[in-house]
Amino acid sequence: MEVFDKQLDLSTYFKRRLSEGQTLGLVPTMGALHEGHFSIVRKALVTDPYVVVSIFVNPTQFDNPNDLKNYPRILNADIENLTSIDKERIVVYAPAVEDVYGANPISENIHLGGLDLQMEGKFRKGHFQGVATVVKKLFEIVKPQHAYFGEKDFQQLQIVRHLVKSFQLPVQIIGCEIYREANGLAMSSRNRLLSEETKLAAGCIFQSLKKAKDTFPTKTFDEIKEQVVADFENNTRFQLEYFEIAETETLAIHTRKNKSKKYRGCMAVFAGSVRLIDNIPLN
Ligand code: PAF
Repeated sequence: MEVFDKQLDLSTYFKRRLSEGQTLGLVPTMGALHEGHFSIVRKALVTDPYVVVSIFVNPTQFDNPNDLKNYPRILNADIENLTSIDKERIVVYAPAVEDVYGANPISENIHLGGLDLQMEGKFRKGHFQGVATVVKKLFEIVKPQHAYFGEKDFQQLQIVRHLVKSFQLPVQIIGCEIYREANGLAMSSRNRLLSEETKLAAGCIFQSLKKAKDTFPTKTFDEIKEQVVADFENNTRFQLEYFEIAETETLAIHTRKNKSKKYRGCMAVFAGSVRLIDNIPLN
């Protein structure tokens, strides 16, 4: 499998390799790949003859230096796993910070239409500016026709869609369903930082979201929020950071239901120092 750490080598490779009309798919990741990522890569391979998997722990999207330092990095294992999926059609781009940012890794100031102000944006200052900056750079570097993002980071997915629209970027964004462990825990690179016991117990996150969905037709938003808070109240292992009901398109946080709109329940939970996020369509 081809693995590039320089954008110049990557684009030279595809200039020679891609025939007229062939599309390129991009699956942007920060590595420590798991079944959730692999399911996205497999989906991309159905549509695109070649799929670039970028593996880059983007410094500008971390508001907490310890989180950046502790983020799992297992490049060799990632390459091995992708090789076993398809070593001809998957190409890895795993650059150093300088190849993406030059000497100065800072976020651009990108207007994100207010989609970045609530939930993750509220609790992780500057996070989405960093995400938008690196995603835009990756699109410029890889020049994909399709880019695939998991719905686990639902706010990120909507922000990337906004970014593409507002800059009229020539790429189609494809959202991919959340891939879950048998107990419902959404797959995440951060799950590697959990003990087996905590991983098993973390099924309670999805249980709480499912309960919110089940009670959505009959309860008010306030009642559902109270119910979720109560789910975590006496839980010593997991601390709820937020649960919000956001309108799917705009991510606006409403207090009352509008029957013509679609909503997502989104939450962030701490398991010790590990922060987990998850969401569910409510209607
Ligand atoms: O979802 C992620 O892994 C990251 O936020 C992304 C999209 C690769 C940008 O660094």
